[in-house]
Amino acid sequence: MLAEQRSNSEIIAAYRARTPASERLANEARNYFPTGITHDSRYLLPYGLYVERAAGAHKWDVDGNEYVDYFGGHGALLLGHNHPQVVAAISQALAKGTHFGASHPLELEWAKLIQRLMPSAERIRFTASGTEATHMALRLARAFTGRTKLVRFKGHFHGWHDHMTSGYSSHFDGSPTPGVLASIAREVVLLPANDVAALRDCLARDRDIAAVFIEPTGASFGRLPVDPAFLAALREETAKHGVVLVFDEVITGFRVAPGGAQQAFGIRPDLTTMAKIIAGGLPGGAVAGRRDILERLDFEVAKASGKEKIAHQGTFNANPVSAAAGIAALSLIGTGEPARKANEAAASLRAKLNEVLAVERLPWAVYGTFSAFHIFLNPKRRAVDPLKFDALACDMDELKNSPPTVLQKLRLAMMVNGVDLSGWPGGMMSAAHSAQDLEATVTAFRKAVRMLRQEGEV
Ligand SMILES: Cc1ncc(COP(=O)(O)O)c(C=O)c1O
Repeated sequence: MLAEQRSNSEIIAAYRARTPASERLANEARNYFPTGITHDSRYLLPYGLYVERAAGAHKWDVDGNEYVDYFGGHGALLLGHNHPQVVAAISQALAKGTHFGASHPLELEWAKLIQRLMPSAERIRFTASGTEATHMALRLARAFTGRTKLVRFKGHFHGWHDHMTSGYSSHFDGSPTPGVLASIAREVVLLPANDVAALRDCLARDRDIAAVFIEPTGASFGRLPVDPAFLAALREETAKHGVVLVFDEVITGFRVAPGGAQQAFGIRPDLTTMAKIIAGGLPGGAVAGRRDILERLDFEVAKASGKEKIAHQGTFNANPVSAAAGIAALSLIGTGEPARKANEAAASLRAKLNEVLAVERLPWAVYGTFSAFHIFLNPKRRAVDPLKFDALACDMDELKNSPPTVLQKLRLAMMVNGVDLSGWPGGMMSAAHSAQDLEATVTAFRKAVRMLRQEGEV
């Protein structure tokens, strides 16, 4: 048994008492999966929840406990779980077949919607995930520019393929993470976000940069926020040096606005990577952008230009069931109403949670933009006024490194009180969260803070 599991914490005891069926399954899972989990963000001690079903903004675990859900399918579910129009579209598509091994009308309809909503999407290539989309974006940028390196910003996440691992949660010096070749890690230049001088210097000095990738609202949907003025400078500098600018809109796409961060900030990248919301809650992704860049995938353009095309396969590219879900979801999202609702609800929740902190006199803060909320756990225990907190003024380590035991107990205490936070900690709001859900979250937060205080954690 792990040390944390032997703890005499009342929070952990309460969690265990409510979730015995999850504990049984978690113990069994260790016989099959490394640490018993199938995604790193599901790692939680003493064990994570096993969920049986979900609807709207809620989910139910295998012990029958109900939660207000802020994971939102890792951000894929702007409309909440099981939106009836999305479910109906999936059912209809399923009845017709799950894979035709051929082009199909739905992929066209799906692409038309994406092109209508996403300003930069002159051409589109579907993939099966966001990781695949950023992988292809990198290859396109290299083939298009004839250059080798990519610039990424420290803490930003672009999936788990070899070029994207150092400098996300570790290896900020750019050294390779386990299993990644040093020769690949050397092709990645890691820069601090929001530092225009460092960016200018890098692009002026190094003529071998093919692409710059960025999460446009900041790492982890704004946990480490990006200043919109930096995005504008980034657009200007990359254009000046012929570097391909890639907005990774896997989270922000269709969420912050129907046309993603590029619409919200009025900045057009050369390439955009998308996943999550694009496929309505099913697996799917895409890389989209300038026609002349996407044409590196075109058989006929390759033949006419004498340049070898980029090969691209993928069994589940533009899968018809994902396409049906994507069309249903994006048709609803295209009105702008879901993003507006989720953004407003998140702003309201951030304000209410900060009021709790102010009343409880706890120097934490809840911050974020659009439909995100991030809870700052103040690892350096400095004086903080939650009502005046400015995340842009904080350093990256402070924002990223929550004290592990406090973070663990906060999440467990919130679950004991019926709320499932994401591990940032914080969450993503959907259009399905109601005023009652927000009130329940505020009550749970107040109780959780008091439970933590009782255990001497804060
Ligand atoms: C910004 C960003 N890019 C890329 C990815 C990878 O997407 P996927 O998990 O579909 O491979 C994620 C996943 O969370 C993401 O948040």
